[in-house]
Amino acid sequence: MSDTLRIAFVGGGFISRFHIQSLVEVRDVEVVGVSSATQESAEATAALARELGVGPKARAFASTEEMAACEDVDAIWICARNDTRVSTMQEIHAGATKRKKPLRGICLEKPLARTLAEALEVESIAADLGVATGYLEDMLFAPALARGKEVLWRRGSSLAGRPYLARAAEEHGGPHSRWFWEPSVAGGGVLLDMMCHSIEAARWLLTEPGAARSSLTPIAVNATTANLKWTQPAFAAQLAERFPGLDWAAFPSEDFARATIHWRTEDGQILLSETTSSWCFVGAGLRHNFSLLGPEYSLEIDMSRTGVEAFFSREVTGEAGEDLVEKQNAEQGLMPISPNEPAQYGYAGENRHFSQAFLHGTAPKLQFADGVEVVRLMMAAYQSAAEARVIDPSELGLKTYRPYP
Ligand SMILES: NC(=O)c1ccc[n+]([C@@H]2O[C@H](COP(=O)([O-])OP(=O)(O)OC[C@H]3O[C@@H](n4cnc5c(N)ncnc54)[C@H](O)[C@@H]3O)[C@@H](O)[C@H]2O)c1
Repeated sequence: MSDTLRIAFVGGGFISRFHIQSLVEVRDVEVVGVSSATQESAEATAALARELGVGPKARAFASTEEMAACEDVDAIWICARNDTRVSTMQEIHAGATKRKKPLRGICLEKPLARTLAEALEVESIAADLGVATGYLEDMLFAPALARGKEVLWRRGSSLAGRPYLARAAEEHGGPHSRWFWEPSVAGGGVLLDMMCHSIEAARWLLTEPGAARSSLTPIAVNATTANLKWTQPAFAAQLAERFPGLDWAAFPSEDFARATIHWRTEDGQILLSETTSSWCFVGAGLRHNFSLLGPEYSLEIDMSRTGVEAFFSREVTGEAGEDLVEKQNAEQGLMPISPNEPAQYGYAGENRHFSQAFLHGTAPKLQFADGVEVVRLMMAAYQSAAEARVIDPSELGLKTYRPYP
């Protein structure tokens, strides 16, 4: 068997391009294909892999089914729109059953699905194929978080007791593609889009290194959602100008969310996570903060502090872009520059982890089942916000809960 994992992407958009950029730092992986909603985006993304030298033979496939059936593809990274999770898994299933040699793995971007029912369906299609799965949550591989967690638990927790409070925030000015703003397509607003990162990062920071996910049980979810900015007429009009026909004021999801989750340890201690997500934050770039607090120690991570800043006077006016840092809001004044975003945000680390796990047949540290649990907590958060009550995430009703029609 080849010792290079030949991977293919479903989706030729923003995040596939980020993953492909990260692969220059990942060994034993080669991009061989891309399928997308348009041939043009599949071709452009395959061309990026060729240009960067991470996929000299990368090509666009006409369909996901054809790509999954191709024996030159060992594993698939699903990076398409949220509403295509189940149909993409069905296409992969149809293609994979035509193969002589089974697929070695499937990775799927966050959120695993739009509802708990869809997430369970995605998980069950993968189980039917018997394929190894990976849930792509880059924050757990971000070097700042990985190193911070390791040091805090080793030095602080071992002497003073385990950490009891994790805080995580992921906030920016709003997504780049129209579909994120359509609740009937995306399945939700900022809570579904961004709180998946924060909930999972906070849970993982609170989990003892090496312990199973089940060592912490979420017992209560209390959340609030709001529309702080984009439903205001002037800002809704800005969105309509950017995305013609989009009427966010009439059909909004939410542009702000916060959640508090109580977790119970195996010996009965109660821990807390506090998470906030926003599409109405305006700053130089993302607000991307994490804290972990214990009895005699604390950890603070501000991922926008990259150690590199540029200053442009008012005389320097240029095109709007995201060339300094993801979701940058300005091109003038004091601006942070990320020297290597794909590594800083954890994409290089996660792709290294999942490709090595699929190559060597070891268990990935995040699987579809973990993504299902994150979706369950987000549905509990939506229900808590809608009904203004604390939700026990083991409630059966969450299986059929849909935040938006
Ligand atoms: N980990 C992260 O931080 C992160 C960041 C951004 C996006 N994401 C996730 O990645 C996914 C894609 O987001 P994006 O920002 O790349 O969006 P995007 O709008 O930039 O790109 C979406 C891509 O999906 C393709 N697509 C749509 N329907 C398809 C189908 N049926 N089959 C194949 N391709 C199809 C489109 O052609 C497009 O190329 C989303 O689920 C999003 O939540 C994760």
